[in-house]
Amino acid sequence: MSPIAVSRKHSIATMGADGIGPEVINAGVQVLKKLAELDGSFTLDFKNYDWSSETYRKTGKYIPDGGLEELQKHDAILFGAVGAPDVPDHISLWGLRLAICQPFQQYANVRPTKIFRGTQSPLRNAAHSDLDWVIVRENSEGEYAGQGGRSHRGQPWETATEVSIFSRHGVERIMRFAFQMAQKRPRKFLTVVTKSNAQRNGMVLWDEVAVDVAKDFPDVKWDKMLVDAMTCRMVLDPKSLDTIVATNLHADILSDLAAALAGSIGIAPTSNLDPTRKNPSMFEPIHGSAFDITGKGVANPVGTFWTAVEMLKWLSEEEAAKRMMDAVETVTERGVMTKDLGGTAGTQEVTDAVCAELEKAFGKKAG
Ligand SMILES: NC(=O)c1ccc[n+]([C@@H]2O[C@H](COP(=O)([O-])OP(=O)(O)OC[C@H]3O[C@@H](n4cnc5c(N)ncnc54)[C@H](O)[C@@H]3O)[C@@H](O)[C@H]2O)c1
Repeated sequence: MSPIAVSRKHSIATMGADGIGPEVINAGVQVLKKLAELDGSFTLDFKNYDWSSETYRKTGKYIPDGGLEELQKHDAILFGAVGAPDVPDHISLWGLRLAICQPFQQYANVRPTKIFRGTQSPLRNAAHSDLDWVIVRENSEGEYAGQGGRSHRGQPWETATEVSIFSRHGVERIMRFAFQMAQKRPRKFLTVVTKSNAQRNGMVLWDEVAVDVAKDFPDVKWDKMLVDAMTCRMVLDPKSLDTIVATNLHADILSDLAAALAGSIGIAPTSNLDPTRKNPSMFEPIHGSAFDITGKGVANPVGTFWTAVEMLKWLSEEEAAKRMMDAVETVTERGVMTKDLGGTAGTQEVTDAVCAELEKAFGKKAG
């Protein structure tokens, strides 16, 4: 297609950050560039930001002055992972990832799960469609609100508090988002995860708001589940679930379980969305910086590929997103997989195989 025919341009900030983050983001960018080139109806302009724990060590900050204003100019952010062995995790998480999510009010964290063709769930009897879930995680307050403090440091009577915040505004907007998500899916079924038996303030407000919001969605069936019982249901009765909404902490844990049940943490994506679209949303694989495999060329890039697919959907490139997901699944089905999924391929081999599959799907060579 001629450059004149290209009508849609998307500006993407990339940030690999730490550990395997740069390796998987590099793989994701290779595939996205190939896809845009082959499709020809949209362009992706990438700008890389090298903010990481290395930046923090050198400058004392993860994000330089004016950094968020720079990021704000992009349509989306593709993020790797942050965390380094010599920086405490609470410094790295709050210094980079949460320092973007919170001011940009990316309050809806969306984590789909499925078993890819050619891969196996550790659940003995799980069929491919059994783990077709979407977990909606509250992403702006709850247990990760940053409220609390420490006093009498180092004394035997030292005290620390970590206060969970549940505001009606925060709970209502995530419930509404979750009901809307459930409504768009064929089963129109939502499970609200709670812990209101033990946590009798915030979690009771959470439950009450769910009941109120449900009244606006009469076509969505829903049920309620205590988080501890939810772990059993995910393992023993996965088919009974579809869309799930949970607090920041609960969904953080449940979505790692979901990823493991689908085969590996290396395949799962996350979207940190500002549904108002006032700020760019941020897309990242669910996994961390994985120090144990950094630099070995074995990191599974599939989580980043699926993340990129979710980003394309958010940018209204639905057709391209579908093509990319099909290409990734065709590659897993052919057995080209990294070790975490039982294969022997490296990151680059999987990336090249997906690019080749895209060329086949478009019936031409790019460039
Ligand atoms: N969103 C984020 O930036 C994020 C998320 C989780 C953890 N972290 C940080 O990452 C660091 C390591 O955390 P962790 O060890 O708890 O979790 P992790 O996700 O980095 O690793 C857990 C295990 O999964 C494996 N793994 C993860 N991603 C993989 C991939 N793509 N392919 C193959 N195997 C993969 C790792 O090798 C490791 O054995 C910590 O500093 C933590 O704070 C960051």
